[in-house]
Amino acid sequence: MGPIMKAVIMVGASGSGKSTVTVTTNHTICSADLLTWDADGFHPDRLGKAHAQCLRAFIEALNSGQSAICDNTNCSIEEISPYIAVSRAYGVEPLILILDPGLDVCLARNAERPKCRQVPNFAVERQYKNMKKLLRDWPPFWPKITTEF
Ligand SMILES: Nc1ncnc2c1ncn2[C@@H]1O[C@H](COP(=O)(O)OP(=O)(O)OP(=O)(O)O)[C@@H](O)[C@H]1O
Ligand SMILES: [Mg+2]
Repeated sequence: MGPIMKAVIMVGASGSGKSTVTVTTNHTICSADLLTWDADGFHPDRLGKAHAQCLRAFIEALNSGQSAICDNTNCSIEEISPYIAVSRAYGVEPLILILDPGLDVCLARNAERPKCRQVPNFAVERQYKNMKKLLRDWPPFWPKITTEF
C-alpha cells in the first residue's frame, strides 16, 4: 500500500483478512471491534457506541493530517458511506480495498480462531451476501474499488 493513501477503507466479511492487512500499515487503525470484542466475546449492545467512536477516530486522524484505515466489515452502503463522505470532506479520495477470498475461506478461517473470537456462521454468510450486493449496487460517483494492496 503506497504512502500516499491517506484514507483506506477495508471491505470484507469476517475472516477475509482485513485486520491482518491493516496491522501491516502505518495508518491509524479505526475499528469498531476495539469496543465490541473482549475476552468474554462479542457485545452487540456496544455496537452503536463502537461505530460512533470508530468514525470519530477516523475523522480525528484525517483532521490532524494522519493517514487512517477503517477496519470494519463495511459490507453495506449504510456502513461504508460515512467513511467515503468523511474522506472526501477532507479532500481525500479513499482507497477502497475489498478482500474476497471466498465465503468458504472466510468461514474456515473464522472457525480456526479462538472460540471467544468466532463470529457465528450465519453472520459471516450475511456479511458476505451483503458485500456482493454492495459491489453490485456501487454508485458510479463513488471511488474506484481495488482488490490489491
Ligand atoms: N492471507 C491469509 N492466509 C491465511 N490466513 C489468513 C490470511 N489472512 C488472515 N488469515 C487468518 O484468518 C483469520 C481471520 O483474519 P482477520 O482477523 O484478519 O480477519 P478480519 O477480516 O479482520 O475478520 P473480522 O471482520 O472478524 O475482524 C486470522 O486467524 C488470520 O490469521
Ligand atoms: Mg478484523
